[in-house]
Amino acid sequence: MPARKRVNSSGTTLAIETSCDETSVALVRQGAILVSLVSSQVSIHAEYGGVVPELATREHLRNLPPLVQTACARADCPPAALSAIAATQGPGLPNALMIGLKTAQGLAFALERPFYGIHHHEAHLYSAWIDGTPPRADLDILPPHVSLIVSGGHTLLVHVPSPLHHIVLGSTLDDAAGECFDKTAKLLGLPYPGGPVIDQLAEGGQPDAFDFPRPLRDDATLDFSFSGLKTAVRYFLRDHPDLTADPSALRDLCASVQAAIVDVLVTKTVRAARRCAVRCITASGGVVGNRLLRRELAAAADRLGCTLRLAAGPFCSDNAAMVAILADHLWRHGAPATDCDAEPRPGWDLSDVRPTSPATARSARADPGPSGCSPCSSRS
Ligand code: KG4
Ligand code: ZN
Repeated sequence: MPARKRVNSSGTTLAIETSCDETSVALVRQGAILVSLVSSQVSIHAEYGGVVPELATREHLRNLPPLVQTACARADCPPAALSAIAATQGPGLPNALMIGLKTAQGLAFALERPFYGIHHHEAHLYSAWIDGTPPRADLDILPPHVSLIVSGGHTLLVHVPSPLHHIVLGSTLDDAAGECFDKTAKLLGLPYPGGPVIDQLAEGGQPDAFDFPRPLRDDATLDFSFSGLKTAVRYFLRDHPDLTADPSALRDLCASVQAAIVDVLVTKTVRAARRCAVRCITASGGVVGNRLLRRELAAAADRLGCTLRLAAGPFCSDNAAMVAILADHLWRHGAPATDCDAEPRPGWDLSDVRPTSPATARSARADPGPSGCSPCSSRS
């Protein structure tokens, strides 16, 4: 189906995000967020200790229509005045993506507006640039930077030499960092999602009380692997079955596991920034809510002489505002729209979005080189 022509409208983009367990709708005009609504399903999935895809789909179906209506009403922008419609097209849970994508495509078709299918991680990349009151982001003027995306499903390091140009430097080979927090919490009998609970308990514990592995930290690649750390916690608990009954030991255990995860994330981010010779680091995704990670990234950026931009609280975890910011930018720059009947892409790789030449991407991932990333004298 061809992209629809622009007609008289308010210059406002509406975006929908339903890739996992947050139903979210936002409206953005000229880089400014008019409204951003998030309906979280965390309490529903908590009972099962993790996201149940069928429940997520049902909740998106239930929550999305009223959320779209409320968002348009709050922004004082009736659907007929919208200029563009967007949705997360992938990656994510197939049926959850389907709800948001087909709703957005239906709206775009009925209103004869362009539709943009957005990559969830590309939206995360730029969420760290949203700030101010009202919150806004200008994607035209970004410095070259390295971005850490760290959530329950993904751990990625990405080089962004210029806006809309990205090179994936490394990603997780197995569990994501947030998944490691969540699975560790489950082993400790703590509620889901485990990250914030471990963060809280760790605050009163000793990070060096127990020595947990730092998987792939000293490996030259920028890939991650956290499943070994989770297994180490499992064996540790098998050998110390009574430890979690002692509140002080539980706090020490949480602090020690958190320190291991944060150490790996920060070490790899610093290595990526050095390799790519950038003066700016950004981070986004639910795990960026972790206080130790925020502190350690700030200290590391300081040592490197880099600017650090951490996504602000509401834009760390999944939200449609970051999707709308990117779609609004694409629409204003005349980027080609996505087909109104395009299907969800649950396994969409960020490298396949406006791809760099394969040679550039390969050299960036494997080792520093002249294309994409430059060599750096002091490697960590
Ligand atoms: O980005 P997000 O909201 O959803 C996706 O996974 O896409 O991230 C959720 C993840 C969960 O694994 C949760 O435990 C983790 O982020 N998380 C945290 C903290 N807050 C959320 N992990 C560590 N410390 C936190 N304060
Ligand atoms: Zn996300």
